[in-house]
Amino acid sequence: MSESANPKKAAGERAAEYVEHDMIVGLGTGTTAYFAIVRLAERIGEEGLRVRCIATSERSATLARGMEIPLTSFAEVLHVDLTIDGADEVDPAFNLIKGGGGALLREKFVASASDTELIIVDEGKLKQRLGAFPLPVEVVPFGWQLTRQRLQGLGCEARFRSSDNGPFLTDNGNYILDCSFGAIDDPPALERRIVATCGVVECGIFAGLATRIIIGKSDGNVEERAEPGRL
Ligand code: A5P
Repeated sequence: MSESANPKKAAGERAAEYVEHDMIVGLGTGTTAYFAIVRLAERIGEEGLRVRCIATSERSATLARGMEIPLTSFAEVLHVDLTIDGADEVDPAFNLIKGGGGALLREKFVASASDTELIIVDEGKLKQRLGAFPLPVEVVPFGWQLTRQRLQGLGCEARFRSSDNGPFLTDNGNYILDCSFGAIDDPPALERRIVATCGVVECGIFAGLATRIIIGKSDGNVEERAEPGRL
């Protein structure tokens, strides 16, 4: 595959073109968001684009700092113009599963503050129904075993996420349970039930947050969808 036919790169670079002068920009997390961040850094250098950015993870903040992208925080701004982020699955109604990289809480926080949420994916992420990808749920370490039992009571098999060094820890010091529900009939309803579970911090279902889906194709082309139901 030639470099230009990398679907993630194609989607990420297209999304970076939406950034305009003086925007507050949310920087997503993951291998697709990486390409958007790199292209944004190039535009800042080439065009003198004036932006301030909020990262959805320490990983993306480190990447941005390394490329001299100006960062800000919610101590300085309470509103985000445009966020560019990846996803693990997207359904025809623009419901998402996110959190494969463990950044779901900050990703949802930033998305919820954003006027526009651009989701960048390759074609393989498009699904008729969510749920083949185990749903990441961030939980507090205290009593996580009981939280897992409560989540399993909602109809899933919940697997504790580990890293090479022990438990996987989120940027917020929490754990992740990867919950296999199978095909999810009603993502917004399941999201509500999960976040209402004591011990849960946030759930990787993102409903009603994505405003545009940018799809990188294996032939290097890019498709965009801005109306739910047209995927
Ligand atoms: C990070 O926690 C995730 O929500 C990512 O946005 C998602 O997993 C997509 O990642 P990739 O672009 O690496 O597939």
